[in-house]
Amino acid sequence: MNDIEEIRKSLLLEAENSDNPSNVLKDPRLKKLYARIPTLPNQEKAEFGKFLNSLKQELAEAIEKRRKELLNSDVEKLDITAPFDQNQAEPQLFSVEQANLHPLNNEIQKVNQIFRSMGFEAVESRQIDNDFNMFETLNFPKDHPARDDYDTFKTKEGLIPPAHTSTMQNRILKAGKAKLERGENIAVVSYGRVFRNEDIDATHEHTFHQYEGVFVSEKANLSQMLGTLKEFFDTYYGADVKIKTQPAYFPFVEPGLEFMIEKPKAIGGKEGEWLEMLGCGMIHQNVLKKAGIDPTKYQGFAWGGGFERLVMLKYGITDIRYFESTKLDFLRSFK
Ligand code: DAH
Repeated sequence: MNDIEEIRKSLLLEAENSDNPSNVLKDPRLKKLYARIPTLPNQEKAEFGKFLNSLKQELAEAIEKRRKELLNSDVEKLDITAPFDQNQAEPQLFSVEQANLHPLNNEIQKVNQIFRSMGFEAVESRQIDNDFNMFETLNFPKDHPARDDYDTFKTKEGLIPPAHTSTMQNRILKAGKAKLERGENIAVVSYGRVFRNEDIDATHEHTFHQYEGVFVSEKANLSQMLGTLKEFFDTYYGADVKIKTQPAYFPFVEPGLEFMIEKPKAIGGKEGEWLEMLGCGMIHQNVLKKAGIDPTKYQGFAWGGGFERLVMLKYGITDIRYFESTKLDFLRSFK
């Protein structure tokens, strides 16, 4: 009987550790045990039969236990964030929380939609560019101090993660030149991530987003630009937004303006609470020329502003750092 006890233990051990536990039922030693029955004297047959039955039962239990273990460890391999107790015996049906877009992407879509409804195309801004697009085509002379305002990063190879979406202007203008020649206008918004070597605090991030507009036609003028921008802010904030401008210097526009809105009451603003929202102006002749557009025939306006600021105002968000953070309660509050 000793060898039989040995086999029993060994089969159970096999079931407990196997990757395919029911294989143990095909073990030849089990077959041999069954084959013994007819060879036994009658009085032993009954007892041996009972033993085999209980072994079968034990194996079935060991197989089932192992199967569950394997099932749970498979779940672990697939998704370590599974929102249930991985050690529980029974696999359980569970519902995964519906994921949502990042709040900024959500707002980018809304903003693009507003500009599309006004006839603009939307293109994403590049995340790596060069001096030519970031400065040169925008009328920043070499070594001009205005370049310092942009706190740009630079790679060893001299490439630039752009500090503003204006880095797209030359491309937009060159691509649109054929349209002008067909008698159409250039109307493009460019949106995307920009980078600056900034000290970080609640209102400054090294990585943030901008939206930029470029419009060129034979008769583009400042009042069209102000009308376009007012229409945008009215729609985005769902209110009649008061606007004003003051002169500002950007090498790529002439005249250049700072554009302000009175923070609408609908989003918690008070009368006389003026906020600077973006820079804008008539596109500088040198910028048009650099794209091969004749400034005596065509004129354009452009604007560029910070995206986070726009969104923070709308929702009363107090810290710009939340956007690039992994603060889940913040990210989830924008379904
Ligand atoms: N690129 C400027 C910045 O990041 C903003 C800007 C000002 C964009 C005037 C424009 C513009 O297109 O016309 O500070």
